[in-house]
Amino acid sequence: MEELLKLDHVSTAFRSRSGLVKAVCDVNFTVAPGQIVGLVGETGCGKSVLGQTILRLLPPGVEQSGRILFQGKDLMTMSEEEIRAVRGKKIAYINQNPTEALNPVLKIGTQLLESLRVCGGLRGGEARRQALEILASLSFDDPEEIMNKYPMELSGGMKQRALTAMAMCGKPPFLIADEPTKGLDALIRGQVIESLEKFVDFTGCSGLIITHDLKFARAMCDTLALMYAGEIVECGPAKKLFSMPKHPYLSALLASMPQNGMHVLKGSSCSLIDMPEGCRFADRCPYADGECRARHPEMRSVGEDRMVRCRRYD
Ligand SMILES: Nc1ncnc2c1ncn2[C@@H]1O[C@H](COP(=O)(O)OP(=O)(O)OP(=O)(O)O)[C@@H](O)[C@H]1O
Ligand SMILES: [Mg+2]
Repeated sequence: MEELLKLDHVSTAFRSRSGLVKAVCDVNFTVAPGQIVGLVGETGCGKSVLGQTILRLLPPGVEQSGRILFQGKDLMTMSEEEIRAVRGKKIAYINQNPTEALNPVLKIGTQLLESLRVCGGLRGGEARRQALEILASLSFDDPEEIMNKYPMELSGGMKQRALTAMAMCGKPPFLIADEPTKGLDALIRGQVIESLEKFVDFTGCSGLIITHDLKFARAMCDTLALMYAGEIVECGPAKKLFSMPKHPYLSALLASMPQNGMHVLKGSSCSLIDMPEGCRFADRCPYADGECRARHPEMRSVGEDRMVRCRRYD
């Protein structure tokens, strides 16, 4: 498979008073041009840390290993200057807090024109036309009016869309969106999903969508990577994972969806500091036996396009 992004044995850990927090453990996956991968899993499993690891947004002192190849170059070993040129221009990042990401003292138009200048090299009338076109493509009724507004004058969903507009300016080949629908009501959530779909159409980009919203992941992504306690436990084509889950954790997550009866998964994830020796999901798994608790399962290929980390598929 031709690949745009390749994560090769990527691990990230934070030092804390109680020990090393192993937030991302030996993650491997690839994203092909045009492919949208959904990274799903419950809160605290390491999704955001993985996204921030890719863009090197974590504070200094974090322990990191592995390779992150983007267009063949390792993002991990790039100079600070090189990685800055990648952020925004080659890999757009939409985080879950648009209020933090937008500059409160500049009008939306000013921020958009600046992004078009920095990321797309556009100026003057050409930049303005492009800004209006991007805003219109994101279903803003009156793009001219939005250009003249300050972020505080916009609703939450509008801010999220303005941020999406900003990220679209450089037509980046890759997008990382972290929980773009978190905390939004159904109507605004629909608008944000639509704007991300427009983003993908407009830029033709590939992407990594981080979410714990399975319904959203299913609508947006070709491929899903399911994370549990810092590691990927299942990945493959989204449709197949939904119709025939293999890892017991995925089966449990699907059973917890409203349309499947909302059967809540009991218990909680293991600590990221004191990991069990065997399978990390064993304490919550209906199939776990002594062997599962004794030996950490490897990721195995199941069929031609799926991988799962469960002893039942060894
Ligand atoms: N800067 C940091 N310093 C120390 N620990 C951190 C830091 N950032 C994250 N962690 C820890 O890493 C683990 C994974 O966190 P992360 O934010 O990636 O979870 P998540 O899967 O994105 O959860 P959510 O769905 O709630 O956003 C958590 O235990 C968190 O406390
Ligand atoms: Mg997160």
